[in-house]
Amino acid sequence: MPTPLRIGVIGTGGIAEHSLVPALKTLPQAQLWSVLSRDKNRATAFAKQHAAAAPQPAHDNLDEFLTDPQLQAVIIASPDKLHAEQVIACAKAGKHVLVEKPFVTNIEEGKCAIEACRTNGVKLSVALHMRWHSGMRKLHQLVTQEKILGPIRHIRAQWTWRADDASDWRAGDELGRWWPLAGTGPHCLDTIRWFADFRNNPVVDRSALLSREVWKGPHEETGIILLKFANGITAEAISSVLFAAPSRFEIYGADNYAICEGTMARSGRGTISIGGKPLLFDPVNPYAGEIANFIEAIQLGRNPEVTGEDGLQVVEDLLYAVNS
Ligand SMILES: NC(=O)c1ccc[n+]([C@@H]2O[C@H](COP(=O)([O-])OP(=O)(O)OC[C@H]3O[C@@H](n4cnc5c(N)ncnc54)[C@H](OP(=O)(O)O)[C@@H]3O)[C@@H](O)[C@H]2O)c1
Repeated sequence: MPTPLRIGVIGTGGIAEHSLVPALKTLPQAQLWSVLSRDKNRATAFAKQHAAAAPQPAHDNLDEFLTDPQLQAVIIASPDKLHAEQVIACAKAGKHVLVEKPFVTNIEEGKCAIEACRTNGVKLSVALHMRWHSGMRKLHQLVTQEKILGPIRHIRAQWTWRADDASDWRAGDELGRWWPLAGTGPHCLDTIRWFADFRNNPVVDRSALLSREVWKGPHEETGIILLKFANGITAEAISSVLFAAPSRFEIYGADNYAICEGTMARSGRGTISIGGKPLLFDPVNPYAGEIANFIEAIQLGRNPEVTGEDGLQVVEDLLYAVNS
């Protein structure tokens, strides 16, 4: 087996602490190498807690973090509006990048980030972990390869949570461009696109509805995006911070239907039924799958399963919702 890939992490917040770094540590092909925080003490504590392996693992300066010649790849887990410049800085320093969703907050910067990775010969992937949910992967195979539902007609994805107030940085303009649509919207939209075979079946029409009547801030509190694909599949993505319920992913074919409850989540669990009969699967950590795929792309010199272009298509949907 090749030596483990030395990976640094930008950001010490929720997703880095609770999902990405724990997943990375389960992979023999990965090594947590270093961490960048705005605060040196926080970086030091995080590096110590997670046994980051670099001789100098804790940084509070991006350039210094990236100068480390032994650092090979970076996972970016910072607020959305910081992603583009951080991807570009990583690419220029020759580091491969796995960036959290939403990839970027406007199309131009997304194109620049993709181009920077291409010209500097580094891999770029966007962290959309639902692609590695073992049950959803099994369902995807059954639906898209074995066509067990017949031709797909409609897809519906709903993932919501209940916010207590509007203090989340996603609710404001400084660091985010969307609130629930950035939180869970990219997972809903990418999973819909994945089942609709978006690479061969592009989106040809969109519609959107937003509500922001509770806190009346700059960003949506509920966001609904409707898509129509070239072959006629219609789809709905629903994200909200106003109510909590198990997530739903529903897919309707001409011959049968599948309902997934609680699969769109961080856990890798949930239930799936096809025409009312359970589809059994062994839950796995989907974040480990996403990081393993990124490493494989680097080591085998191929595209990751979720490319920068895939991430940018989701951003197009999100921008449509707020600009229409
Ligand atoms: N794929 C998923 O399942 C999933 C789930 C949740 C979030 N995410 C994505 O991951 C990214 C981070 O989200 P999160 O929920 O982890 O956010 P979070 O808890 O607020 O953490 C973000 C971290 O970024 C760093 N940061 C750098 N500059 C910052 C600034 N100006 N303000 C605030 N934080 C700053 C902070 O670490 P330092 O204080 O150490 O600098 C902070 O802890 C977002 O893009 C989000 O969409 C993905």
